[in-house]
Amino acid sequence: MEAQENNKRFQLEHLFNVNDKGSVKEIPNFGGWELIEVVALITGGGSGIGLMAAQALAVNGAKVYITGRTQEKLDKVTELYNQNIPGQIIPITADVTDKASIDKLVKEINSREQFLSILINNAGISTGAQETEPESAEELRQNLFEHPSGDIGAWDDTFRTNVSQLFFMTTAFLPLLEKGSQQEHGWSSTVLNITSISGIVKVSQHHFAYNASKAAAIHLTKMLAHEIMTSRLPIRVNNIAPGVFPSEMTTSSSDEKQKSFIPKEKYEQKTAAARPGKDEDMASAILFATTNQYLSGQTVAVDGGYVLAAGSL
Ligand SMILES: NC(=O)c1ccc[n+]([C@@H]2O[C@H](COP(=O)([O-])OP(=O)(O)OC[C@H]3O[C@@H](n4cnc5c(N)ncnc54)[C@H](OP(=O)(O)O)[C@@H]3O)[C@@H](O)[C@H]2O)c1
Repeated sequence: MEAQENNKRFQLEHLFNVNDKGSVKEIPNFGGWELIEVVALITGGGSGIGLMAAQALAVNGAKVYITGRTQEKLDKVTELYNQNIPGQIIPITADVTDKASIDKLVKEINSREQFLSILINNAGISTGAQETEPESAEELRQNLFEHPSGDIGAWDDTFRTNVSQLFFMTTAFLPLLEKGSQQEHGWSSTVLNITSISGIVKVSQHHFAYNASKAAAIHLTKMLAHEIMTSRLPIRVNNIAPGVFPSEMTTSSSDEKQKSFIPKEKYEQKTAAARPGKDEDMASAILFATTNQYLSGQTVAVDGGYVLAAGSL
């Protein structure tokens, strides 16, 4: 009997259910019964990996706020993917590179929710590509120093979106995240930064600023995880470093379902998996990293073997 009870702890709905706390439970101070939810916020939830993360959490019962700068994208995602699911997807526009906009977002969530359980800092940008196989120093200088993508402003924009905002978003939401951890014994709220294998591989992949920003984002994740832990806050901070997934960033567009497509052949030779990542690959990684209570300060590369093939530093 005891062994059978133990078996239950291995069931998928116990391990991978973001709404595990969603069972009705008594809350003495409220003098009645109330449904405890998992509340999540995903930046850049209107396309690509952010949309995959939103679906992974909402389809499994979480209430998911998605943000981005483009209202139409968020509305379309809500119209399409918020139907007949146990959770919810709710759009709020915000620009995560603007501190006033982050502050407004915190106030907005605070006015609607008592806590935040999951913050996924996913929004990111990539600037143009630069050639790196020159025949001379002059040619390399032309490609890197003179090229418009090598403009210092492009580096600033990349770092502002891919690095600085992780710091400001995470620190701005700490009080709501702390309250999230107080909702149930055994649950710690979590910050999950979407970084990239570009911050791990030794090659520039023709975009130095992007790769440097992602390496910084991985390091920032670890510093935040450490400082939050030493401040005795029960909030886990980790990052997922994706390989290649279809998105507006990697394909320049989305279709009428807000989804993007990369032909399999394009990555047949580049990874052990011989294909780009799928919705399911990202979804299971998101569920793992958000629900696993023993994961802290880590980088989880979900890349079909991209780092193995490209080599890391
Ligand atoms: N796809 C890949 O292969 C891959 C691989 C490794 C890492 N990543 C990382 O995954 C994350 C998601 O990118 P993606 O590939 O899914 O590309 P994507 O489809 O372009 O998604 C990025 C999202 O971020 C939003 N965003 C950009 N700047 C923002 C800002 N200042 N404020 C709020 N939202 C903003 C965009 O919406 P708006 O433009 O409407 O604001 C967009 O929906 C990025 O951090 C990226 O670096 C992607």
